[in-house]
Amino acid sequence: MVRAFLDTPGLAAQTQARFGSPVHLVFPQVYSENLLRLRAVLERRLPAHRICYAHKVNQSRAFVRTAERDGIAVDVASPHELSSALAAGFGPARIEVTGPKGETFLRDLVERGSTINVDNLWELGRIAELAHDHAEIPVLLRVSGIGTQQVSRFGMPLAQVEQAFDLLSAQRGRVSFLGFAFHLDSGDLGERVRAIDACLRLIEQAYDRGFTPSVLDIGGGFRQVFTADAEQFDAYVLALRESLLGRGEPMTWGNNTFGYHVAGGAVHGTPVFHKYANTVPADRMLADLLDAPLERHGGRTVAQVAGDNLLELWLEPGKALADHAGVTLATVEFVKEVADGSVLVHVDLSRDAVTPADQEVMVDPILLPRADVAAGRDCATGPVGVYFAGRLCLERDLITNHKVWLSARPQPGDVVVFPNTAAYHMDLSAAVASMHPLPAKLAVDRTPDGFRVVPDADYEPGLPVESPRALHAATRGADLATGPVRSVEAL
Ligand SMILES: Cc1ncc(COP(=O)(O)O)c(C=O)c1O
Repeated sequence: MVRAFLDTPGLAAQTQARFGSPVHLVFPQVYSENLLRLRAVLERRLPAHRICYAHKVNQSRAFVRTAERDGIAVDVASPHELSSALAAGFGPARIEVTGPKGETFLRDLVERGSTINVDNLWELGRIAELAHDHAEIPVLLRVSGIGTQQVSRFGMPLAQVEQAFDLLSAQRGRVSFLGFAFHLDSGDLGERVRAIDACLRLIEQAYDRGFTPSVLDIGGGFRQVFTADAEQFDAYVLALRESLLGRGEPMTWGNNTFGYHVAGGAVHGTPVFHKYANTVPADRMLADLLDAPLERHGGRTVAQVAGDNLLELWLEPGKALADHAGVTLATVEFVKEVADGSVLVHVDLSRDAVTPADQEVMVDPILLPRADVAAGRDCATGPVGVYFAGRLCLERDLITNHKVWLSARPQPGDVVVFPNTAAYHMDLSAAVASMHPLPAKLAVDRTPDGFRVVPDADYEPGLPVESPRALHAATRGADLATGPVRSVEAL
């Protein structure tokens, strides 16, 4: 759908002409399709489940409205995300509150009846103190240090769970203990299976203590697919490592090593950028997890053990729902050469608007040449290696610190597309620096007549795509659509 939008001559430029540049575009229909695929996996294996959209992945109202319309729950991690969920129509019963919470937020939450995913013992104690006698505030205990060796700053260590049980026992009536939660960032199947097994043990312990937990919340962390060809990306990384050793053409700005350590004629360590070579989509990752055998349970699968024990599986996907559901459009201001011969393409956007937590984004921008000068372009010079530079007066405002090869030298006015930016890239780090306003956010729908583009805040989802078969038909129809895409229509 995004490809079709970008391939429609003049549509990106028309969108900018109407709404300004830079702009973030979100595609809620792509979000719905991602959701449908996850749901299909769950429904086949484990009808008792709950998907909580992790709102933190994007501030888009269109995504939250779509989640509400599609009938899932939402995971909010701040008072502002909570307000956004309520405004989008979520009732308290469909809201789960995650992350560490301070006093003010907790005081508000004990009045609401939403599920509180408790981060630590202090939080649990405060909830019990603030709650009314028969409030029955639903809580999950988030545990950490399970499945992985890595220490996390979130959740409570296993050693504190007995203390949590004591507190819950003393506060029955005020607090209702639903079950356990964890969240792992890693894409490793084994780690997640170990974490699930550890939670099942905890559930057994809880039963021994007289509780009846019924929820197992496995968090998010389901991966995105940025590249179709993992081998090409691996070859790129190999070339990058060679260039860091001074072999071949320089590929990075200012000796940036992306976290690699170069010493003794070798490149050591792992890069700080995302694992872009992943080609396993989130739905397959989820299916593999649910189908994974649990040794301690006679080889029965995760789904079977959860189902047999009447457990409800909760998920908190963020990036898996936003995958390929957004792009960012900027405009080339000018192109210049610097002292070492590097070519800089200046755009009207800064690094933080397309970069999560300052990590290098290795997905290259796409250039859409301005229609009026596209015809006269000299492409005969072959690919040109450039760095994209941001609009701030900071040396560090390089949008790409790795060299990007383009088929021709860009011209002022060309549209630059940053692909797949909906998950964390758009909002996580974005700052109002040098008084530049944040890029506007727009929602794009595909309609029988073409595309409809509206401000994100005004977006209302249409009818849901109801079944995988409907999704297939809808996708096939989109591929075959031949009619001209007519206009950018603002409501
Ligand atoms: C508790 C929790 N749940 C869910 C998520 C969403 O993770 P992802 O976007 O990787 O699915 C996060 C992300 O930080 C999180 O902290």
